[in-house]
Amino acid sequence: MAYQTPYFVIDENQLTKDFQMLKSSLETSWGNYRIGYSFKTNSLPWLVTFLKAGGVMAEVVSDDEYSLAGALGFSDSEIVYNGPVKKRPSFERVLLAGGILNMDGRRELDWMEELAAAHPTQTFRVGIRVNFDLEKMCPGQTTMGEAGGRFGFSYENGTFAAVLERVRRIPNVEVTGLHLHSSSKSRSVAVFEAIASMACKLKREFSLNLSYVDLGGGYCGGLEGRPQYPDYFPAVAKVLQEEFTPEQTMLIVEPGISLLSKASTFVTGVVDVRDIGNERYLITDGSRFNIDPTMIKSSHLFHLELNEANPGAEQRKTMAHQCVSGYSCMEVDRIFEYRDGIELMEGDRIVYENVGGYTMSLNPLFIQYFPDVYIRRDGKLYKIRNRWTPKEYMQNSMLYGEEQK
Ligand SMILES: Cc1ncc(COP(=O)(O)O)c(C=O)c1O
Repeated sequence: MAYQTPYFVIDENQLTKDFQMLKSSLETSWGNYRIGYSFKTNSLPWLVTFLKAGGVMAEVVSDDEYSLAGALGFSDSEIVYNGPVKKRPSFERVLLAGGILNMDGRRELDWMEELAAAHPTQTFRVGIRVNFDLEKMCPGQTTMGEAGGRFGFSYENGTFAAVLERVRRIPNVEVTGLHLHSSSKSRSVAVFEAIASMACKLKREFSLNLSYVDLGGGYCGGLEGRPQYPDYFPAVAKVLQEEFTPEQTMLIVEPGISLLSKASTFVTGVVDVRDIGNERYLITDGSRFNIDPTMIKSSHLFHLELNEANPGAEQRKTMAHQCVSGYSCMEVDRIFEYRDGIELMEGDRIVYENVGGYTMSLNPLFIQYFPDVYIRRDGKLYKIRNRWTPKEYMQNSMLYGEEQK
């Protein structure tokens, strides 16, 4: 049966393999660990509940993500709450339940003081997101370069020290964690060694007694010639051992894209072929918005499924240049230039690989709604999300005349 394009497929076997690889490399390198799955990367309910069954916590960065985690069965103690836009009620619930909360912003200090004062007999454990100059430690490797990142409390300008001092003044609050997530372009092992060495440095400098070090996300996964989980965690453990022991300090990781990439594909179909000027355009029913929503990619990993029943399929030639474009009406929706490849025709399929992270969750509802999603299990496809239709699009909307009901 030919499934209606476009659609995503998650290969359950591959996902299981990558998840196991993550767990076993953490197990052998440090032993005492928790995985906070990064909801923002892809919060598809099937995927989240699959990972939950494997023991992950929910790493959330907004009140909506927090509520989604609750709806998908995570208790407040299974939340890793990050980011600067937390809401106060969920902030309080996670802390009261003993979940992981990494503070990122001044108003959270006020909330913390007031919560602690309201519950004087309870001891609260809290983490602090650290902003530090990773670029200096790993030149040319960070996402923001010398401009630096905007998350967390700055170590270099003394804000981290001031925040620590303020929290330490609250009698029933202990700073028991550091959150050191930093985005890098390289995703190299050296970046994670530098992050671990920063944790050691902070522990020494501020005599911290940490029950966890949270390395954040940002790992590579599923790419030939790039690091894998078993490359990162032994290297990180070696650095952490200078100051920490697994008995006292848990390692928290927040993987996103590295867990999903290899398992996910996006299947699109060619719906029209047209020549304009010197260009051959292939109009497909997928879009750049589906697989490159931030519009930064110029090439993709993909394979083709040719429709040999196509009249003329036997005379396909090789073409120097075909512009693979998307369904939307925006000219910028050109997915990639297919150079020196076989001539593609209506009904052929282009299957993009490594597309599971920051794609489904960043898809807009523009012109076409969210596509179907399947899992592949034992060679068969099972649907895990129906494509959105106007019915889903219109949910929670009022029509003209209904606004006062
Ligand atoms: C705090 C935090 N944790 C985890 C992640 C997941 O990162 P990745 O998908 O690169 O593993 C991100 C991504 O930006 C993040 O900001």
